[in-house]
Amino acid sequence: MSTPIIVGNWKMNGLSADSVDRVKQITTSLATQPVSGVEMVVCPPFTHLSLVHQTLNGSSVALGAQDCHKDDKGAHTGDIAPSMLTDVGATHVILGHSERRRDHGEVDETVREKAVSAAKAGLTPIVCIGETEDQRQSGEAEDTIGWQIKGSLPDGFTGIVAYEPVWAIGTGLAATPDDIKSTVAFIRAELVRQFGDAGKSLRILYGGSVDAGNAASILSIPDVAGALVGGASLKPDAFLSIIRAVP
Ligand code: G3H
Repeated sequence: MSTPIIVGNWKMNGLSADSVDRVKQITTSLATQPVSGVEMVVCPPFTHLSLVHQTLNGSSVALGAQDCHKDDKGAHTGDIAPSMLTDVGATHVILGHSERRRDHGEVDETVREKAVSAAKAGLTPIVCIGETEDQRQSGEAEDTIGWQIKGSLPDGFTGIVAYEPVWAIGTGLAATPDDIKSTVAFIRAELVRQFGDAGKSLRILYGGSVDAGNAASILSIPDVAGALVGGASLKPDAFLSIIRAVP
C-alpha cells in the first residue's frame, strides 16, 4: 500500500508572517504529538517558500509550490522555473489546478509539459484533474477526466494525481463518499489503461472542501491515498485534524 499524503494548498493567502506562524503551529503540534506513516506537504505562495523552508527546519512536513514553468530558464517574465523551486527546498509542485486552468488558460498540454520539467528537476508533480459543475450536469464528468488524464500526464509519469471536482472547491460541498469512490475507480482504470502496471501504484488524492469534519470518511475510501486541502489548510488545527484522520 502506498503512503498516504496530505497536501495543504495555501493558494494566494496571507503574508509571510502568516505562513511562518502557521508552520510554527503545525510543527509544534507534530513535535508533541508525532504522526507516522503519513506524508505531509504545505504549499505556500512563491514569495513565502524560502522563509517557510527555513521555518520547517528539517521537520517531517515537506515543502511544495503551487505551479512552475515548463522551461528551466529564459525570457518568461513573472514565471518560476522548476530548479528555482528545488533551490529553495521544495520537493513537490501542484500542477494544472483548476484555478490555473481558469485564470491562466492552462490546457492539458501545458500541464503535461510542466509535469515533465518538474520531474526532471526532481520535484514530485501533483497533477489536478476534475470536472466542472456544467460537465457534471451534462453527464460529461468521466469523459472530461479521461481526456485530462490522457492530456495532462506524460509518459512515464510517477507523480500524484489529485481528483478535484471544480464544483466542490471552496464551496463547503465535498463530493459524497460514493461519488468519490466511483470516480476514483474510474481514474484508476484510466491510469492502468494509460500506464499499464505502473498505473496501479500512482497515488490518487481527493480535493474539494475537505475539512476536519469529513476527512475521516473521505480518507477511508478505498484507493484514496490522501487529500489536497485548500481552505482548511489555512487553519493549523483543522489541517492537523485532517492529518490525524488518516486511517
Ligand atoms: O487545492 C485545493 C483545492 O482546490 C481544494 O480547496 O479545500 O478550499 O475546497 P478547498
